[in-house]
Amino acid sequence: NKLFYEAQKEFLGKSGKITALLRELGKAPKEDRPTLGKLINELKVWAENQFALKEKEVNQAELLARYENEKLDITMPSETKEVGSLHPITHIKNEIIGIFEGLGFEVFEGPEIEDDFHNFSALNVPKDHPARDMQDTFFIEKEIGVQKPSDILLRSHTSSVQTRVMLNQEPPIRVLCPGRVYRNEAISARAHCFFHQVEGLYIDKNVSFADLKEVLLYFAKEMFGPETQIRLRPSYFPFTEPSAEMDISCDLCGGKGCSFCKGTGWVEILGCGMVDPNVLESCGINSKVYTGYAFGLGVERITNLKYRVKDLRLFSENDVRFLQQFEGC
Ligand code: DAH
Repeated sequence: NKLFYEAQKEFLGKSGKITALLRELGKAPKEDRPTLGKLINELKVWAENQFALKEKEVNQAELLARYENEKLDITMPSETKEVGSLHPITHIKNEIIGIFEGLGFEVFEGPEIEDDFHNFSALNVPKDHPARDMQDTFFIEKEIGVQKPSDILLRSHTSSVQTRVMLNQEPPIRVLCPGRVYRNEAISARAHCFFHQVEGLYIDKNVSFADLKEVLLYFAKEMFGPETQIRLRPSYFPFTEPSAEMDISCDLCGGKGCSFCKGTGWVEILGCGMVDPNVLESCGINSKVYTGYAFGLGVERITNLKYRVKDLRLFSENDVRFLQQFEGC
């Protein structure tokens, strides 16, 4: 390229050879000048054409060289991008929410750091109830290193969100409160210091236990299949009266009895009951006018039933070999 421009200058530049010939024309005898002038001009035009042609060639060669350099091999395999997926707990939580949303329940979330009132007192948990025992609940020290009794805690159940909803909304109330809860437990395959719950609450005039049973049966069939049966066993929770625990027929053995259901054919999935009038009153709802039901279910428990995860610790270890198994879900 440089050579080309140098050559062009050498012949056609201001002090180039052809330009010099034209300048020296005056020195030639007068009669020869027209012929010589014509010849030199022809030479100049010819040279200009030659250079123009060459310039095109040079430019093209340059362009081709650049293309060669920048060539893209579209047959090369591309870089693989890892696509994330929902955590199994999130996936099941969403599925639970979807079922209840279809029934008109609205999602409401509350804080994980709670106070004694929302987590216990408002829910009719007496001062001496074992649920308040330091072994079950993580209390938060007000001053670092000073272990004074505290009423700030990590919520031990999502029932604390019930309190918040009842204090803030007028009936009819129909909410679903998903979230993480904390308990001071030794970590093992069957217990963890945090897990997830979904709380349901329905308050209106004339709500009965039959409504609760109907909704829970619908949920069980949607979640585990149309063959699923439910069983309600009388139980005790301070915030409900009457209270029950609900089992579903073990879908691993079809109810015949296996190691998963410990030979009973049933597995427990939730606690429920009619909201205790004391709870309604402490949240400013007239218990003579309104009744309601509530339930609380464990998301890990339902996930275990669905996916047969035997060790609870797997849910929080973030081992991709475990998580990848849920990619298609
Ligand atoms: N809060 C209870 C627990 O964590 C579960 C529960 C039971 C919630 C009965 C409720 C209920 O709303 O009515 O064990």
